[in-house]
Amino acid sequence: MSSVSLNEKIPNNVDLAGDRKLQRALEEWQPNFIDWWMEMGPDGFQQDQIYLRTAVSVEEGGWAHFDYVKMPDYRWGIFLTPSSSERTIGFGDQIGTPVWEQVPGDLRKELRRIIVTQGDTEPASVEQQRLLGKCAPSLYDLRNLFQVNVEEGRHLWAMVYLLHSYFGRDGREEAEEMLVRRSGHRDSPRILETFNKPIDDWLAFFCFTMFTDRDGKYQLAALAESGFDPLARSTQFMLTEEAHHLFVGETGVGRVVERTAELMKAAPSGDVKAVGGIPLDIIQKYLNEWYSSSLDLFGGEDSSNAAIYFATGLKGRYKETTSSKITDHVALDGCYSLQIPNGEGGFTSQEIPLRRAMNLVLRDSYVDDCYRALERWNGVLEKAGLTERLYLASDRFNRRMGSCANLPIAPDGSMMRPEVYAGRIADWLPTQGDLAYVRSCMVSVTEPGKFAGWIAPPRKGIDGQPIDFKYVQFH
Ligand SMILES: [Fe+2]
Ligand SMILES: [Fe+2]
Repeated sequence: MSSVSLNEKIPNNVDLAGDRKLQRALEEWQPNFIDWWMEMGPDGFQQDQIYLRTAVSVEEGGWAHFDYVKMPDYRWGIFLTPSSSERTIGFGDQIGTPVWEQVPGDLRKELRRIIVTQGDTEPASVEQQRLLGKCAPSLYDLRNLFQVNVEEGRHLWAMVYLLHSYFGRDGREEAEEMLVRRSGHRDSPRILETFNKPIDDWLAFFCFTMFTDRDGKYQLAALAESGFDPLARSTQFMLTEEAHHLFVGETGVGRVVERTAELMKAAPSGDVKAVGGIPLDIIQKYLNEWYSSSLDLFGGEDSSNAAIYFATGLKGRYKETTSSKITDHVALDGCYSLQIPNGEGGFTSQEIPLRRAMNLVLRDSYVDDCYRALERWNGVLEKAGLTERLYLASDRFNRRMGSCANLPIAPDGSMMRPEVYAGRIADWLPTQGDLAYVRSCMVSVTEPGKFAGWIAPPRKGIDGQPIDFKYVQFH
């Protein structure tokens, strides 16, 4: 079952050759995927040799192979973590019963929606990032961008495989639609709003991979607990690749902070713009923008869908079955208490039954993770001898979803008068001027080992290679 076929048209460990009909359907989808990649993938660079990692197995430690490859020749494959025959559902109403190898009829609609929503984000992010190669701050960063892009492409393959295998004709149609929607398109946008936002500069890219990809990690981790075993095994393996994307984001922001700190000390008046750096207050506004937008991806605080997904065993909590902190896997007792706007300028307590609050429970794990990263960035400022610190805005700030959607709430979580809020928003979110300034810093640096002036070099290279390694060979 889990033996790896690398030499077939579609590399896989799901014995694709054993199901001719499925194999043919996916092989028909493959050229459409390549067409999409050429049209909507990285603009330029398709003929260049990129030092990329390719998934070639699911063995821990040995799953990836690094070598130069032209992106259109990348071997996008279908890899699932091997099944364990005795796996049982780990939570909800059917806890302890065997996991499903097929889609239960009564959950078909919900499962399809979950898979389509997840799948849609993968090509969306590639589209959002397609112009960034032209202004990469180094070859190291350029290579990381393309690594993220090709792996998001593979994640699309992972979801399309599930649609083709388990959802018949509907699934095939959904797979086609994945290549039709376009990020930011007026008539046929991507499904989730954050995936329609433009990513025009590298600070936005690092914030996206820090905050938005990190939402992806928590969604995938929740699905890795799923009672639908093929989905659980697909997402488990996707998480292996995802870790690098989050690394790119967290260290990317960290390197910008590090460079800014250096420039703040070196610049005569502390004016980092005068020396080509990105001021800390602009970095803060970017964090506010992408963090608040990514919080929206977790959905409403009080959610009947979340309750259904948990009850039926479709979607668990972060580390539902592996964390020693979670002991009650049925979650029928207990409440989640939260503060919601009271309509009079203040907030009031609301108790939500735990199952209906599962979006929040997952989001809390995410928020903890973001605070961990924030501490590292602030550690960089501290080490530089600076007193300034970055913060994460309140989860009420700048929201489009949930109880605080579209309310005039400051980053500290306090309700404001609308006119006061409107007057302050330029202090909290990037202005057109901020965006234009950051874009003006974006220059393409292609000499190995050299970095644009607004970002510090990384600690080390990729795959044990030196920092000045030629990560991209231009044709
Ligand atoms: Fe992904
Ligand atoms: Fe990712």
